[in-house]
Amino acid sequence: MHQRILILDYGSQVTQLIARRVREAGAYCEIHPGDVGDDFINAQEGLQGIILSGSHASAYADDALKVPAAVFTRGVPVLGICYGMQAMALQLGGELEGSEQREFGYAEVRAHGHTALLNDIQDFVTPEGHGMLKVWMSHGDKVTALPPGFKLMASTASCAIAGMADEARRFYGVQFHPEVTHTVQGPAIISRFVQTICGCTGDWNMPDYVDEAIRNIREQVGDDEVVLGLSGGVDSSVAAALIHRAIGDQLTCVFVDHGLLRLDEGKQVMATFADNFGMKVIHVDASARFLSELAGVTDPEAKRKIIGKEFVHIFQDEASKLKNARWLAQGTIYPDVIESAAAKSGKATGIKSHHNVGGLPETLNLRLLEPLRELFKDEVRKLGVELGLPPGMVYRHPFPGPGLGVRILGEVKKEYADLLRRADAIFIEELNNTVDPATGKSWYELTSQAFTVFLPVKSVGVMGDSRTYEYVVALRAVETSDFMTADWAELPYALLKRVSGRIINEVRGINRVTYDVSSKPPATIEWE
Ligand code: XMP
Repeated sequence: MHQRILILDYGSQVTQLIARRVREAGAYCEIHPGDVGDDFINAQEGLQGIILSGSHASAYADDALKVPAAVFTRGVPVLGICYGMQAMALQLGGELEGSEQREFGYAEVRAHGHTALLNDIQDFVTPEGHGMLKVWMSHGDKVTALPPGFKLMASTASCAIAGMADEARRFYGVQFHPEVTHTVQGPAIISRFVQTICGCTGDWNMPDYVDEAIRNIREQVGDDEVVLGLSGGVDSSVAAALIHRAIGDQLTCVFVDHGLLRLDEGKQVMATFADNFGMKVIHVDASARFLSELAGVTDPEAKRKIIGKEFVHIFQDEASKLKNARWLAQGTIYPDVIESAAAKSGKATGIKSHHNVGGLPETLNLRLLEPLRELFKDEVRKLGVELGLPPGMVYRHPFPGPGLGVRILGEVKKEYADLLRRADAIFIEELNNTVDPATGKSWYELTSQAFTVFLPVKSVGVMGDSRTYEYVVALRAVETSDFMTADWAELPYALLKRVSGRIINEVRGINRVTYDVSSKPPATIEWE
């Protein structure tokens, strides 16, 4: 049983960042809805502290979510962030004031007196000797009277009570957001809360986690056999490597090649998992079947549905041949768990649901094994490296389940997929090989997702002395932290020039290359 920090979510967009910072501070944590009951709080085992998130809502609105009373009677330290601080103030006898004006953005906060939370943490000192923090603020309401027992911990020019503390009860509130990267000392403040104030001893770390996860998998499945759908993406790859480390040949992976993979992807997956790790991998070449189902279909959603349905059929066929399989393993990660819980409770606003794996568990009658359920993406990557997966696989950009099917506009044909694969491989190779002198990183590392899109239109060109009439591709590269919004990447012209020159010269059939300069929103990252 790990020591744990409980994070209660009041609907902030950045609650997951709080969890990431807590994990980086070496403590296990979970996010739960802000209105869980007192019984839930009181039943938590190993509980070392509670963090109350921010919210877009107002703490004194009639329908505002109340912090469960048990949070303040359980006897563990509590940190309220923004709404969390306001709700704490209101419920413990302080006062709030609404404001039409939102304070949003960079602010400098002065720390008052010594508190266990902020002591010796500062960005600079004023000539008068005040310790100052550079922080990110986003709030309308503010606390105007401290609750009994609290003292002032921090203030800004426009917010007299920007932090408060009751050190006897170990309750702290900050109006600013220590979880976002703009708050320079944010990681130090969260580490201070987690380690010093809550007394977490760093029992959450990847090397220990590997041993623990392996023990858990062995305990869970015993002598049973497990089947896993391997896509070559980060999550299913890491899940496969972890389960294989735990139970070896009791695991069988099924790798379905739908003919819409990137250049040599099938070979790479087989080389890594079958040859190198010695895993049992069934390689199903279903490209002909997928392409024939997709013939004549141009509607993007119809294409997605066909690919999803075929995938389920093929996977089911293969899995049902494994007579002893009792478990279906999936690479579900913690953000998936949080999002589907939010979707079920109806509290999710604008969050997309994941449906790559829809329908599999019920129809197969297998029990679910999800060894990455507790991990964030960056932890999954660390685990992958720890398990010896190639860094190129672990740090790969995401690739959609329907693959090139959503990157070939309109009808999917083998001829188009072959051209696109070659063009895309050139783009990715050049992104990997071009280093940005300012950061020392490659442009592949500097972008969150980059790929090529096939446009089934022909345009006129000249090559040598002759006229050409060939296809067009679009290059797409974006920077994003959550894939919900994204900016197009400002790739260097020299890089774009090299990519375009190579594609037009090396891929006969394409005579024009364009660069997509649309951000999300209003465009999406994929074109379909
Ligand atoms: P959009 O195009 O919606 O994409 O801006 C956001 C992110 O989701 C990925 N994506 C998908 N992933 N199945 C997937 O597994 C899909 O059907 C799918 N559609 C989009 C996309 O690549 C991007 O990372």
